[in-house]
Amino acid sequence: SKVEFSAEDVDKGTYPHYMLKEIYEQPNSVRDAMRGRLSPEEATAKLGGLNMTNADLRSVERIILCGCGTAFHAAMVGEYLIESLAHIPVECEFASELRYRNLPTDRDTLVFVISQSGETADTLAALRESQRKGHRTLGICNSVGSTIARESDGGVYMHAGPEIGVAATKSFTSQLTIMTLLATLLGRIRYLSYAEGLEILANLERLPALVSQTLELDAQVAAIAKKYAKAPNFLFMGRQANYPIALEGALKLKEISYIAASGYPSAELKHGVIALVNEVTPSVFIAPRDAVFEKNVSNIEEVKARKGPVIAIGTEGNDHLDKVADEVIRIPQSPDYITPILASIPLQLLAYHIAAELGCDVDKPRNLAKSVTVE
Ligand code: G6P
Repeated sequence: SKVEFSAEDVDKGTYPHYMLKEIYEQPNSVRDAMRGRLSPEEATAKLGGLNMTNADLRSVERIILCGCGTAFHAAMVGEYLIESLAHIPVECEFASELRYRNLPTDRDTLVFVISQSGETADTLAALRESQRKGHRTLGICNSVGSTIARESDGGVYMHAGPEIGVAATKSFTSQLTIMTLLATLLGRIRYLSYAEGLEILANLERLPALVSQTLELDAQVAAIAKKYAKAPNFLFMGRQANYPIALEGALKLKEISYIAASGYPSAELKHGVIALVNEVTPSVFIAPRDAVFEKNVSNIEEVKARKGPVIAIGTEGNDHLDKVADEVIRIPQSPDYITPILASIPLQLLAYHIAAELGCDVDKPRNLAKSVTVE
């Protein structure tokens, strides 16, 4: 039977909005996404709900990740994670596009549909179209017993608990956590050694604490939000797995504050985006200490040279950004497969505080529905 929650069933507690409560639940929701799924004995992740043996997983030649809205951004992060940890080619598709296109897929393609509600009409249609073509199609859902959870050939539950705020927050970080588990599982069947698997597990064990630590940035982010809340539009930029995090940061801001916001890969700046840079358009850069840090710094400098305000998400202990950015928000140092989870938190808080500052209806933004069950 389908389990649905409404605002009446879940108490906001001391939080002014469900969205803020759900942002603060993330140390627990990421823990719940991993519960019982880390196996130190085998140095891998275990996802029994996939209903696939290691031999089945070994024969997967290609993966399609599909969803709408925030779930699609999780799919994009999943593409980076699975390709880098498991070396399996991955494609991301909007469910609304997948359902009508004639994607050439071969026998060994595995399809995942990602949906918090498990009821999104386009995602459900993509699932059915994929199954009709004979593909094993798995669901990554939060709502237990939802249509997608029931109709898929197996999958992974997020166990994030009810998400009431229309803007997805904790479900997104749960999806990212599951993408890391999936990449680890697939990677350990193929290229990752026992030691590498153990190292990933050790970092995942630290994740809830790192998320808690990242939430301590709230007061700083609130002050930044106050300062920039009147901006007419925002740009969000990042590279590699943090590019979809830029897209998600922009989506959160649009959804709840109605400020025009768009996300790009940092280097796309010079291919048009830079025309938007001016003194009142803040650019939010996700620029953690990673292999492309210097590249992000050059992009930040290009924005500064045109007098654009820069809010940078950097890494603790890295002072370099102070010289180039107007505001620096420092997240804990973490490996590349964890950083996108941590980087999304200040962006959720930024959107939340800007919307609250502007007096917007944070939990029920205009024109949006929590679950879009019609096409
Ligand atoms: C709606 C919601 C979004 C969500 C999207 C997909 O547009 O407002 O927050 O990301 O649907 O929802 P799903 O339940 O399929 O993850």
